[in-house]
Amino acid sequence: MSLLHALSLVLLSRSVLSSTLVLHESVSHVPSGFQALDSPSPSQEIEFLVALVQPNITDLAKVVDSVSFPSSPSYGKYLTPAEVAEYVKPAADSVSAVSDWLPTGASPSAFSPAGDILKFSLTVEQAEGLFNTTFKTYKYSASGQEMIRAMNYYLPSNMQQHILYVHPIISFAPPPQRPAKNTAYRRRTMPDRRQLAPCEDIVRPVCIQEFYGIPNTTISGSTTNTIGVAGYNEDSGGEYANNADLQTFLNEFRPDIAGNTFGLALLNGAENLQDNSGGLEGQIDIQYTVGIAGNVPTTYVLDFSNDAVMSYMDTINWILAQENPPDGIHNELWERGGSDTTNLCNVSFLQSLLHFSTFLRCFRSICNGYMQLAAIGVSMIFASGDGGAADNEQGCTEFVPMFPPTCPYVTSVGGTFFQPPTAFVSSAGGFSNYFSVPSYQSADTSAYLASIGDVYSGMYNPSGRGFPDVASEWEVFIVNDGGVTSIGGTSCASPIFASFIALVNDRLIAAGKPVLGFLNPFLYSTGKGGLDDVANGQSSGCSGSTGGWNSTTGWDPVSGLGTPDWAGMMTALGL
Ligand SMILES: *[C@@H]1O[C@H](CO)[C@@H](O)[C@H](O)[C@H]1NC(C)=O
Ligand SMILES: *[C@@H]1O[C@H](CO)[C@@H](O)[C@H](O)[C@H]1NC(C)=O
Ligand SMILES: *[C@@H]1O[C@H](CO)[C@@H](O)[C@H](O)[C@H]1NC(C)=O
Ligand SMILES: *[C@@H]1O[C@H](CO)[C@@H](O)[C@H](O)[C@H]1NC(C)=O
Ligand SMILES: *[C@@H]1O[C@H](CO)[C@@H](O)[C@H](O)[C@H]1NC(C)=O
Repeated sequence: MSLLHALSLVLLSRSVLSSTLVLHESVSHVPSGFQALDSPSPSQEIEFLVALVQPNITDLAKVVDSVSFPSSPSYGKYLTPAEVAEYVKPAADSVSAVSDWLPTGASPSAFSPAGDILKFSLTVEQAEGLFNTTFKTYKYSASGQEMIRAMNYYLPSNMQQHILYVHPIISFAPPPQRPAKNTAYRRRTMPDRRQLAPCEDIVRPVCIQEFYGIPNTTISGSTTNTIGVAGYNEDSGGEYANNADLQTFLNEFRPDIAGNTFGLALLNGAENLQDNSGGLEGQIDIQYTVGIAGNVPTTYVLDFSNDAVMSYMDTINWILAQENPPDGIHNELWERGGSDTTNLCNVSFLQSLLHFSTFLRCFRSICNGYMQLAAIGVSMIFASGDGGAADNEQGCTEFVPMFPPTCPYVTSVGGTFFQPPTAFVSSAGGFSNYFSVPSYQSADTSAYLASIGDVYSGMYNPSGRGFPDVASEWEVFIVNDGGVTSIGGTSCASPIFASFIALVNDRLIAAGKPVLGFLNPFLYSTGKGGLDDVANGQSSGCSGSTGGWNSTTGWDPVSGLGTPDWAGMMTALGL
């Protein structure tokens, strides 16, 4: 050991000793659905993430505004991932303080491209000492998934200035749920009859194109305008996109683009199994991106991390790592269409976690990741969820907002039915308890809140970020295991909206203009003309089938600003 190192160790242990331990995060009780089992073996290794404080993140927020508001002179001038990294990288003394604090052998390494999130491993025994806590093995009953967690953890007071939070110590995050299969409309009609069936009976791509005026295919020839579809969730049985089913779907419902397929990015040992053993989420997402965004290259980014928070971060990091632009060729950025649709039907992760204010740190860290994607011009598009105003809770006294859809840097998509245009009763929406209303939507959310008066006062945060932002058709037919079946949920609405945007971006590229990037500042201003308001229907609330939010003229927390309108969008963009 060098003298210098020995010296710094002495200094360090003195500073650690002199600083007291403080409770950093805790949960009050084990969330429902989890069951405590035994104590894990002291020698078992746990992999942790530590999110470091990002000193320049508020500057990045200003940059995102400047590239995303149509009125800004820098509109569409997106950053490179390397430029974004400069804003999110931690201070050098944070990195060294954390590295010095961790026990030898923890081997911290960068988890995110900018090094603001570090990954390290400790044994249970080491971690219990370092964090002054006790770990237990917990089982998530629905899936049988086991995880090692604790109810709280402490940090030395002099580390708190460097550390946002440590994951996954108190993170009880069940995997996302599969969408409910709607069997009410299940039919076995003959193929020729299906193609001729009215849209009232079988909603399929041609109907979506008809409802929203969406054209068949791309015209720019750009291959950098892409759609990424995030798939997760090994532990609840997996979400796979079956290529044979996609081909059957296209042959039947999009013969003009038959043979189109999708690329794969497999993270953390993921495999896109082709045996129809998984849920239907991947099937919906791929069939309604490849099948609507005709000829836009589509990549299925499948992640088998067994932890919901890590899955979101993995996807963010994957996107940030994609671009490696040659120096100085900046117009390449303008061709990054990049929409990312993710499948958040009943994100149970949110349901249980939103009751704990301590999860704010984890939400904010993930949302800061979406801010980075906004800066590079990626549109993140999420299903708003399928639990109405209260995430299907009955008899609750407060509505339940969803995350990530409430992150101000994503676009969340609610569900509607096309004829007459009516909001889907389970379309999730409301107001965030954590993220305050962003300037791009405050006029719209205030107008809505003024219209309802104090009817739900105390049940939601009137100064929170409102969601969803937009909506589209919630019920469609897909091909699964060779057969045609109907399926419903905002998981269907989200890929449809993403495909609409991908084709809009294609027209922008053809006109030599930048792609839309982070959509909301545009959608709530000059982009409103590209959406058709939906002012019928209401969502479910705490009392079950009624008592949620009404879908009204203008923005509302059920159908947002409305559904895609291709012709209106072309006019709004001067195309
Ligand atoms: C360690 O945790 C225990 C129980 O959570 C707490 O009572 C104790 O004060 C903590 N130790 C320190 C040094 O803060
Ligand atoms: C980050 O903040 C520091 C200190 O305020 C400043 O010196 C640096 O230029 C900032 N970096 C960026 C990319 O704005
Ligand atoms: C889309 O393709 C189909 C089949 O080739 C064709 O009948 C239809 O007119 C096309 N629609 C548009 C909007 O171009
Ligand atoms: C949503 O998830 C919860 C908890 O995992 C479950 O009880 C509920 O049935 C789910 N709702 C739907 C509509 O799938
Ligand atoms: C929703 O609309 C119904 C019927 O018009 C009305 O009775 C109810 O008060 C409205 N609720 C809210 C929250 O606006």
